[in-house]
Amino acid sequence: MERLQKVMAHAGVASRRKCESIIEEGRVKVNGQVVTELGVKVSSSDRITVDDIPIGKEERVYYLFYKPQNVLSSVSDDRGRPVVTDYVKVDQRIYPVGRLDFDTTGALIMTNDGDFSHYMAHPSHEVDKEYQATLEGLITNEALKQLRLGVRLEQGVTSPAKTKLLKRDPKKNISVVNITIHEGWNHQVKLMFQTVGFPVKRLHRIRIGHLKLDGMIPGEYRRIKPFELKQLRGEA
Ligand code: URA
Repeated sequence: MERLQKVMAHAGVASRRKCESIIEEGRVKVNGQVVTELGVKVSSSDRITVDDIPIGKEERVYYLFYKPQNVLSSVSDDRGRPVVTDYVKVDQRIYPVGRLDFDTTGALIMTNDGDFSHYMAHPSHEVDKEYQATLEGLITNEALKQLRLGVRLEQGVTSPAKTKLLKRDPKKNISVVNITIHEGWNHQVKLMFQTVGFPVKRLHRIRIGHLKLDGMIPGEYRRIKPFELKQLRGEA
């Protein structure tokens, strides 16, 4: 017997957390009965449906997507804004692994594998994410040092970040910095730079682990290769 949300995530419905919301919304039936509690356990002989559609053992798929600016990291939006699944058109019910802000561009993984999504979201697995940030002002060495040591945010102190200063442009009064972190707190990079006194004007995710957007343009996506998945899972 396994928990209903785990079985749903395994079947590729959504992440475990999202499956919990789907259950609470009353969209799930077990053997024809609506289930809204989260503690329920099911066995392989139970018939599970979401919106009256039986969950199956959908093939697990993994895509790398180059998210354009002004696209929501979500599968739907009640305000009608563009969402990532408008771009990544595949047969499976995929969703983004973590989130990039509406205005942030760059690398985003999309999958229907709830366990993989869960693994990637966990900071203890320390999957590096590298961002390129364009900042207001000329960033100081002191501020860069603070980012490398850790910055106190509401969620806690960030782990030491790697930073690489690419440019300080006094004419435009901007700086460009590459920063590598492995947590994925909400708005983390923007908050880190804001806290050290240099607000982000533009943010782009260059890399997730070894995965880069080489040769891709905004809006494009490609399958993630088996060896790349192994690298992301720390198995290679
Ligand atoms: N950090 C942010 O502040 N925004 C993002 O989109 C990603 C990381």
